[in-house]
Amino acid sequence: MVVGTSPDFPPFEYVTSNGSIVGIDIELIKHLAKMMGYDAIKIVSIDFDGPIPALTNGKIDVIAAGMTITEERKKVVAFTIPYWSADQAILVTKNSNFKPKSLSDLEGKIVTVQSGTTGESLVDDFINKTGAKITVKRHSSFVLAVKDLLNGRVDAVIVDSPVAKLFTQKYGVEVATIISTGKHYGLAVRKDDTQLLNAINEAFKKFLSSPEWKAIID
Ligand code: ARG
Repeated sequence: MVVGTSPDFPPFEYVTSNGSIVGIDIELIKHLAKMMGYDAIKIVSIDFDGPIPALTNGKIDVIAAGMTITEERKKVVAFTIPYWSADQAILVTKNSNFKPKSLSDLEGKIVTVQSGTTGESLVDDFINKTGAKITVKRHSSFVLAVKDLLNGRVDAVIVDSPVAKLFTQKYGVEVATIISTGKHYGLAVRKDDTQLLNAINEAFKKFLSSPEWKAIID
């Protein structure tokens, strides 16, 4: 089984100092694959605007990338049962005077997002709807987006709330506000891969109530 991920999204997927890709999604798919009888899986690193085409082209079989289940994506891929909930966060530098409480407060500012994410569409949709003058800088990776914030090149990052929380523990950044979107993550497979989808879901349901899953999260 070939699994695609964008490893810039701690604690779900990230790269350790020795170059290995680790995280909750990686542990999760490894356990599920084992339960499904696979001897080994291959993890492939792909920027987040890439895994859906890679999946539909057959280069990978599963996306494990903290991917939000959306109606738009459901037209192209099939999602497993949901396994995590997430909102969007506006991240700013620690002790900054700029404390946006909503997207409107980003007027006149530069925000950065990862290309292809729901954070990107949140701000793009807001600009299209309201005509707000917000400059959006698009990155291939959330880690680079946070570095831009730390270097003072941008005013804020829009990123999923669980990942924002982890960034606040690792870097000098803080969450200015949470925008409630009430979304969920799922793994994704090709739409016609019904057998694989059913097999993953069957293992997944068992796994979500297992002590191993709790241990991974801890
Ligand atoms: N949950 C968001 C989305 O689905 C962001 C996911 C980004 N994932 C990543 N591994 N960088 O659009």
